[in-house]
Amino acid sequence: MRIGLAGVGRIGAFHARTLQALDFVDELIVTDADPAAAKAVAAELDVPAVPDVASLLASGVDGFVIATATPGHAPLLRLGVAAGIPTFCEKPVAGTLAETIALAKLVASEDVPVHVGFQRRFDAGYQRAREAVASGELGFVHTIRANTHDQAPPHASYIPTSGGIFRDCNVHDFDILRFVTGREVASVYATGGNKGAAFFAEAGDVDTGGALLTLDDGTIVLVSSTRYNGGGHDVRMEIHGERGAIAVGLDHSLAMRSAEEGVDFPRGPRKWSFMERFLPAYQAELTAFADVVRGVRPSPCTVQDALEAFRVAEACERSRAEGRPVALSEIEGI
Ligand SMILES: NC(=O)c1ccc[n+]([C@@H]2O[C@H](COP(=O)([O-])OP(=O)(O)OC[C@H]3O[C@@H](n4cnc5c(N)ncnc54)[C@H](O)[C@@H]3O)[C@@H](O)[C@H]2O)c1
Repeated sequence: MRIGLAGVGRIGAFHARTLQALDFVDELIVTDADPAAAKAVAAELDVPAVPDVASLLASGVDGFVIATATPGHAPLLRLGVAAGIPTFCEKPVAGTLAETIALAKLVASEDVPVHVGFQRRFDAGYQRAREAVASGELGFVHTIRANTHDQAPPHASYIPTSGGIFRDCNVHDFDILRFVTGREVASVYATGGNKGAAFFAEAGDVDTGGALLTLDDGTIVLVSSTRYNGGGHDVRMEIHGERGAIAVGLDHSLAMRSAEEGVDFPRGPRKWSFMERFLPAYQAELTAFADVVRGVRPSPCTVQDALEAFRVAEACERSRAEGRPVALSEIEGI
């Protein structure tokens, strides 16, 4: 199988290495708007680099992976679909709600599978939590806590086009919340704070976010995010129910130490980045994409799924800006 990859920055270079290591990929071809970046990754992996996406798609690839900066996603996704090539697109599929809706409509009307990169769906812990909720072993679920705490901020130039902390970081929590519970978000009340670098506020963003969500079955969900978690990379979900509780990401790598005397949990080592935290999940999602390309499974995360997560993020941004609870019914969808 021949896979074309556009964008070899932080996540794209990581995906290139993952794809190169997978058995099913016979040939990987890369491109980037920055030719030097494409050449460097191509040289490291001993794969061809082409000057642009048009050449990549014209070269007869079986699958197309989009890992460019967010503004590139929508136009490249349109090119991939127009070329009839099964496409994997990093989240978010677009920077705006209107464009996400347009893409969801487009993809629904075409016969080209599109897989959106919410890798937590392939994490074994989240999958077990989903089973625990579905099997009823927790009884009714009343409270969920979910967090995405990055150890350190990305480079300053990433922030103005990132969409803000809810669309960029917590969108993963919103997607996995739907996946784990099978429920939809009914309303949100969000806030944010800035104690770190000035470039967040200059971009109208916050470096730390918090949101209180209510699901359509009345479950209360507390979500947080930060770009400054000195203890390490910390992505977790706690699900509390009538008959029990289960936690995803609660192991000896926990980015926290106990204040209690004599407790030797967590023993470490800690994880410092999303790459370390989700390596097996990224491998599993790209393996699943190969099955999508081969036509043996449908997309495990559709543009419609991405739209629903994006709508929750959109509601959080509106809530933060207006200082009030926002019902999801206020946010356009399809
Ligand atoms: N799923 C995840 O866990 C995860 C993690 C990190 C980033 N992401 C997403 O991946 C995307 C990239 O993030 P990043 O941190 O790698 O960014 P980055 O800024 O490090 O890299 C982006 C790369 O895309 C290239 N590029 C930009 N526009 C392009 C275009 N039109 N054609 C070809 N190349 C283009 C840039 O030159 C750069 O090399 C973002 O949309 C982000 O939301 C997802």
